[in-house]
Amino acid sequence: MPSAFELPSLTLSTGSPSQTDIDLLVLPLVAGHTERVLERLGPQARQDVAWAVERGAAKAELGVVHLTTVVDEGWRPRRVAVVGAGTTLTPERELVRRLASVAGLQARQLRLGRVALDLTPFGDTTPGMVAAAAEGVVTAAFNHGHLKSRDEVFWVTAASVIVSAEGPALQAMLDEGRIVGEAVNAARLLANEPGNHLSPQDLAGRAVDLLSGGALKVRVLAEDELAALGMGLLLGVGQGSERPPRLVVCEYTPAGVDPKAPVLGIVGKGITFDTGGISIKPADGMGRMKDDMSGAAATVGAMRAIGRLGAPNRVVAVMPLAENMVSGRAVRPGDVLRSASGLTVEVNNTDAEGRLILGDGLWYARQLGATHLVDVATLTGACVVALGMQITGLFARHQAWGEVVRGAAGAAGEDVWPMPVHEGYRDLLKSEVADMINSPGRAAGAITAALFLEEFARGVPWTHLDIAGTAWSDEAKPWSTKGATGAMVPTLVALARGSAAAWPA
Ligand code: BES
Ligand code: MN
Ligand code: ZN
Repeated sequence: MPSAFELPSLTLSTGSPSQTDIDLLVLPLVAGHTERVLERLGPQARQDVAWAVERGAAKAELGVVHLTTVVDEGWRPRRVAVVGAGTTLTPERELVRRLASVAGLQARQLRLGRVALDLTPFGDTTPGMVAAAAEGVVTAAFNHGHLKSRDEVFWVTAASVIVSAEGPALQAMLDEGRIVGEAVNAARLLANEPGNHLSPQDLAGRAVDLLSGGALKVRVLAEDELAALGMGLLLGVGQGSERPPRLVVCEYTPAGVDPKAPVLGIVGKGITFDTGGISIKPADGMGRMKDDMSGAAATVGAMRAIGRLGAPNRVVAVMPLAENMVSGRAVRPGDVLRSASGLTVEVNNTDAEGRLILGDGLWYARQLGATHLVDVATLTGACVVALGMQITGLFARHQAWGEVVRGAAGAAGEDVWPMPVHEGYRDLLKSEVADMINSPGRAAGAITAALFLEEFARGVPWTHLDIAGTAWSDEAKPWSTKGATGAMVPTLVALARGSAAAWPA
């Protein structure tokens, strides 16, 4: 079977493109700066590209690719592609990442194994541009069809980034971008795995494999330990499945860290398959619910990168894992479950299971000493209605902490948008028989889910990231493929690696 990803070697270079021994040279075209592309080319290709720009076949629109048929004499690259690169010479991280992905995906499509992305048309190369380029090239080296038995996949074997001047700072950023890109790919592979290949126990095993052998501590709690901790929410959601729930805990502790320093707690939703339970989902589209562990997958990916790159902060990650199934043992609507925190929940809808397992997860992260919480979850269809598939919903009770998380997303080049945790809707959680219900209904569904979670994060700054829309892509773009996206891996890495001086007390 083909592999899910095979990474090219990654190098920096400052050479002239004409003398670089590669198969495909990619040049970014910035609006109003055609000359910066032309001056990198030989006389004949220059003429062809100038003509293409004049005719609109090559343009600055991101993702538009013009492949020249002309290659000048004495030129070592076999092909040259001019790729639209937007309107600014100081591009944001997301743009460079997309540009690099276009380069990688184009090379694969053209079956050209050695590709160079020339960043010099932007002017001076910044460290951020190099990291983004590495990330983009690496995430382009991903194959969603790794379960096909007869698929031939073409891989890029060598990728180089042509920069204005080499140096140790840029080299370090190349490695950083590669590690973040690999973490994104690891998360995507997990999220793509079908439910039959990935039980809670399987996912726990994969997490252990990805997280052990370095700076991280990782352990898996089985049912008896979950019962001893009183995790009735996680156990209740998992009780309908033949395949019992697990909880994965991963900790990163920087050497010599002050024991009183802030501790980041990351909690990721890990429903390996969500049928909805007795409140069963409609058949249409249910298959996508194999990705309902994308929050846990993003957490695994991020922790792997944090372990490899290091971070100034202590980080504890908690991943509650369960399969939400229908059976004679499944939790019923109306059942009351007792959480580890002591709060009781009337399960009025078994399809609102994510908030249940996260409730116990958030509580446990606090037990482990987390002073600042962030959770990541494919939590509500309502968030998809509100923000679509390109924007992650950000919900924060503690506004300053929400701004820190938002800043990390901005630095990582991921789109998030703040949503209100509106106090007035808290009444909707009221239950006649327990402390609260889990499913207050359609209105403001993403917000009431956040209000439910907050009950388990009380007292510490907490931010919730709803990735129901962004974890999966239904549409291929020149810079991305269909399927799991690895959303929020770069954001979590940036958050953990940022200075806690900016975190609110
Ligand atoms: N995993 C789903 C949310 C989801 C929906 C993720 C679409 C990705 C795409 C979640 O467990 C769920 O079923 N939520 C319900 C909550 C409702 C019962 C209150 C929903 O959104 O319909
Ligand atoms: Mn559900
Ligand atoms: Zn779910």
